[in-house]
Amino acid sequence: MEENCFLCHPGKVTQCFRGAMYTAGRECDDCHGNLLAMGGEFSYQDGHTREPWAEEPKCGSCHSGIGQEPVATIAYNPADPAAEPLPPKTHRFAENPNTLYRNSLDNHAQLGCESCHGSPHAIWPNRNPDANDNVTAMQLQGHKGTITECNTCHEPGSFPKGTLNGPHGMHPVNDPDWNDEDGHGHFAEKDNSQCNNCHGDDHLGTRLSKTPVDRVLKDKQGKILATLKAGDQVACNLCHSLQKSFSD
Ligand code: HEC
Ligand code: HEC
Ligand code: HEC
Ligand code: HEC
Ligand code: HEC
Ligand code: HEC
Ligand code: HEC
Repeated sequence: MEENCFLCHPGKVTQCFRGAMYTAGRECDDCHGNLLAMGGEFSYQDGHTREPWAEEPKCGSCHSGIGQEPVATIAYNPADPAAEPLPPKTHRFAENPNTLYRNSLDNHAQLGCESCHGSPHAIWPNRNPDANDNVTAMQLQGHKGTITECNTCHEPGSFPKGTLNGPHGMHPVNDPDWNDEDGHGHFAEKDNSQCNNCHGDDHLGTRLSKTPVDRVLKDKQGKILATLKAGDQVACNLCHSLQKSFSD
């Protein structure tokens, strides 16, 4: 990056690129393509040339929304000199069609993507624990990273019967109502394949069922069901058998 894009774009000192994808070792051209692609030397598949400022990389090209698959590390087909963004495999983590990330709104409440993730080159969390980027999430939900605590915006107990209509089709987290059989159990009994993209086809957990923080999960009576460490992937056999989680 120092040898090319950073010759002109602020980076070495100002660190304009510093978020989760920086931590994941991504570089400018993994998302944008190289200088010839950026300069519009090659056309996209339908014959038009990339429009500067309007056609930019997409989260959905790498984040397929399928937890069993690793996140892609290049946002286009490496054999394509124009570096045209790949279409999203599923819409779970995609921007709105033909819309920049910064102008896209989420399905659950028409909130800007940035309200839970931050700006495109500084997607939360920043790996430097003292970074200003982490302060917003720390103040709002008590830990850094994506805003995942529903109680940041909703009153505790807002979903007595559970829901899968949170951001990206998420259910309530750290919520005794959801831990109950009338909560998640009811949803799983109706159609447990709704859980698979995040908890895995085998229900043993994927990176999309990872908790960002240590938790003590309780039921409605306050009984402790399980404890989680930050980074644990929640499997369906954490509190009961897999046989139960696949029952319908
Ligand atoms: C020689 C200097 C220079 C280098 C090297 C350079 N840029 Fe730029 N870049 C610019 C300038 C100047 C603009 C503003 C152009 C304008 O005002 O429209 C720009 C604009 C952009 C834009 C916004 C406009 C658009 O095309 O969408 C993007 C994205 C971008 N650069 C990415 C990159 C990437 C990625 C690299 C490395 C592969 C890179 N640039 C290397 C000078 C440079
Ligand atoms: C993880 C993917 C990713 C990486 C890596 C990345 N960018 Fe971007 N970049 C984006 C996205 C996405 C946008 C469009 C933001 C939007 O849609 O609101 C963008 C937009 C831009 C723009 C246009 C300005 C703007 O605000 O829209 C410039 C300039 C730019 N990037 C330069 C760079 C440079 C230089 C690097 C390397 C230091 C880099 N990018 C690395 C994803 C990336
Ligand atoms: C070039 C591919 C690529 C693009 C484009 C991309 N990401 Fe990522 N992203 C990654 C990789 C790789 C990781 C690390 C995954 C891992 O640790 O398994 C990651 C990690 C993340 C994480 C951290 C997840 C965690 O578990 O802590 C978030 C949040 C995230 N990306 C959001 C975004 C958003 C929002 C956009 C669009 C602005 C975006 N990504 C664009 C490749 C990409
Ligand atoms: C209300 C908060 C909220 C809003 C708004 C939001 N997200 Fe997310 N986002 C989340 C949560 C929570 C996760 C973690 C989901 C998981 O781990 O299963 C996430 C995860 C992601 C990831 C990373 C997935 C991965 O593979 O790790 C991407 C990419 C992403 N969101 C993109 C977007 C885009 C694009 C928008 C706007 C269209 C958006 N988000 C709006 C809360 C939000
Ligand atoms: C950044 C703030 C924010 C976060 C975080 C957030 N929401 Fe929301 N949510 C909203 C807003 C705003 C609305 C729209 C309320 C309205 O239209 O009156 C909404 C609406 C909803 C609705 C539809 C209306 C309702 O109350 O039944 C559901 C369901 C929902 N959210 C679930 C969730 C879940 C589950 C989570 C956590 C995974 C979550 N939300 C996280 C802001 C948020
Ligand atoms: C969009 C991704 C996603 C989907 C879909 C999803 N989960 Fe989860 N689930 C998660 C994440 C992320 C966690 C970890 C939340 C945390 O503790 O921070 C989790 C945790 C849980 C927990 C433990 C409670 C907790 O707060 O950790 C239960 C129970 C659960 N899921 C059941 C289900 C069931 C049943 C389904 C299907 C009906 C389902 N989930 C669908 C992402 C998902
Ligand atoms: C935090 C603990 C916990 C986790 C994690 C968990 N469950 Fe449960 N589940 C319970 C409790 C408690 C009950 C009710 C008591 C019982 O039946 O064991 C239950 C009951 C169920 C039932 C039976 C519902 C009924 O009405 O009989 C199903 C189906 C189910 N869970 C599916 C799942 C699936 C699928 C997952 C993973 C996506 C999952 N559970 C993860 C705690 C959990």
